[in-house]
Amino acid sequence: MSLNSNVLYRPLDADSRWGYGSFTFPALRHLLRRLGDGGAMAVAADDAAGSPLGLALGVAANGDGGQSAAELMSIYVRPESRRQGVAAGVLAAFTDICRQQGRAEVRATYMTGQPTTPAVEALFARAGWTPPETRMLVVQATLESIRAAPWMRDYPLAENMRIVRWLDLTEVERAGIVDSQSVQAWIPEDLYPFNHEAGCEPTTSLALKVDGKVVGWTINHRVGHVLRYTCSFMHRRLQRLGRILLLYNESVARMPQAGLDTGMWTVPIWHPNMAAFARRWMAPYATRFDETRGSRRSL
Ligand SMILES: CC(C)(COP(=O)(O)OP(=O)(O)OC[C@H]1O[C@@H](n2cnc3c(N)ncnc32)[C@H](O)[C@@H]1OP(=O)(O)O)[C@@H](O)C(=O)NCCC(=O)NCCS
Repeated sequence: MSLNSNVLYRPLDADSRWGYGSFTFPALRHLLRRLGDGGAMAVAADDAAGSPLGLALGVAANGDGGQSAAELMSIYVRPESRRQGVAAGVLAAFTDICRQQGRAEVRATYMTGQPTTPAVEALFARAGWTPPETRMLVVQATLESIRAAPWMRDYPLAENMRIVRWLDLTEVERAGIVDSQSVQAWIPEDLYPFNHEAGCEPTTSLALKVDGKVVGWTINHRVGHVLRYTCSFMHRRLQRLGRILLLYNESVARMPQAGLDTGMWTVPIWHPNMAAFARRWMAPYATRFDETRGSRRSL
């Protein structure tokens, strides 16, 4: 489908994906191999000579009501072709494909604080997407910037408490988490640790045990040179006492052993205590304080 004479917009399939790998994040490139199998979809923009200009890449998803939807995972236009409406064209073509596939909505989540964040927000606003909503706070700090934080200090561990590496939990301790959750759910679904442990950084991913029972954890991943604190949780009974700080402190203390000096904490805003802590106590010591935001459009 051609929207103007200079730019050609076309759906990609796995056979025509060549040349677009650098137009998305490395972690998403595998999706290009899945184009055409119903799980992933993409629209490419090319110039009249057939050279790649831009790419929109998404995956099939479920809408809130269980209806079929799509998640736009990345949209990119090469720098020398920006501000000519290419992204708007590629987004319109992507949306058309989703509509033809019978999907009820498209949605996207993106990170603020990037040089082109205003462009992304203008793009969605212009295309009739919902105003952006904050989803996560994203705090980045270095060992240096965090050193002066008042919560970075030695907390004595009570007699009945132990901090262990997440990977050193025994099968019995792991089963204890699963069983207690099935008797009475105490872990929010999005912080259920077993959904996040794959590939976790071994030295800094920790669990807190009280009287032998696991009551909290921080599960972290190495993302390039940064340690991402992916999933941190403390039992409700201990949350108010700031026990999560025991884990953060110990984990930060171990970062040099893991060869890391920068941490990134992602804090969902639907966990209000955690978000309040991040805003009040982490932001002043952060080297970056960004957000992920979400937007959507019904089709
Ligand atoms: C975001 C991006 C795809 C926009 O591509 P583009 O082809 O320049 O966008 P368009 O020309 O279609 O412009 C779309 C809207 O954004 C606005 N815009 C574009 N660049 C802008 C900028 N730097 N600052 C403010 N607004 C900008 C345009 O004015 C236009 O709005 P308008 O129609 O109301 O004038 C491009 O900047 C990019 O590839 N950025 C890097 C990747 C990225 O951040 N992707 C998003 C997260 S996955």
